[in-house]
Amino acid sequence: MNRFDPSIFDLNQDCKLDIKEIGNLKSRLITVENIFKDPERVKAFLDNIPLIDCIQPNPKGFYPGYQTYFSYELGELQNMLNYYVEETFETQVRGWNTAYQCVDGAKKVFDQSNFPHTDGGQIAGNVFLSDNVEQGSGTRFYRFKQTMEESPIANNCMYRKDLYGYKQPKFDIVDFNPVNSNEQWESYFLAEEKFNCLNMYEGALFHSAYIESGTYTTQLRKSLSFLSA
Ligand SMILES: [Fe+2]
Repeated sequence: MNRFDPSIFDLNQDCKLDIKEIGNLKSRLITVENIFKDPERVKAFLDNIPLIDCIQPNPKGFYPGYQTYFSYELGELQNMLNYYVEETFETQVRGWNTAYQCVDGAKKVFDQSNFPHTDGGQIAGNVFLSDNVEQGSGTRFYRFKQTMEESPIANNCMYRKDLYGYKQPKFDIVDFNPVNSNEQWESYFLAEEKFNCLNMYEGALFHSAYIESGTYTTQLRKSLSFLSA
């Protein structure tokens, strides 16, 4: 019988923690390098999960490729995530929605995915697990130039969503070419992709799953991603 074993997510005791404050909002960004004790075992586990295409009538992810949610316990990893939620972000969460995310730079995408988004959960995080990290990839953070906001006001006033381009999402199917800086958005930080490295940040910040155009066309950018419930 192929039974799940949460020791897959055991942590490396020598991992390296860094906490930065980024942008004008001094938003906390946690980075933990070398997080999994056995990242190859994590990868082998994830590679056995069937992938779900992001392009669906009800879109699954803000990038081209695949996103598969699962409900396996995260073992030691979950304890670490909860610890940083309380100690660094000084808040509480009810749990985690966990997904295996694979970015395919050769696939088409909803045009809205080329622009920054925010996540519904308070705290978001990911561990990068690509076979070969390609240059310029990571989680990119932005400010909206017209108002200098690094996070939208948390309400449902549609005139504000209209400003950010969220009122009528762009559902044309186009190449993935995520914005770095343009007339509306400026990027102020890239949390670079490093193998076996966790990043945690507030989901309300404008951000994107960023790759340079022309990269990740012959392999997938793989990550384990978490969004607090
Ligand atoms: Fe996100």
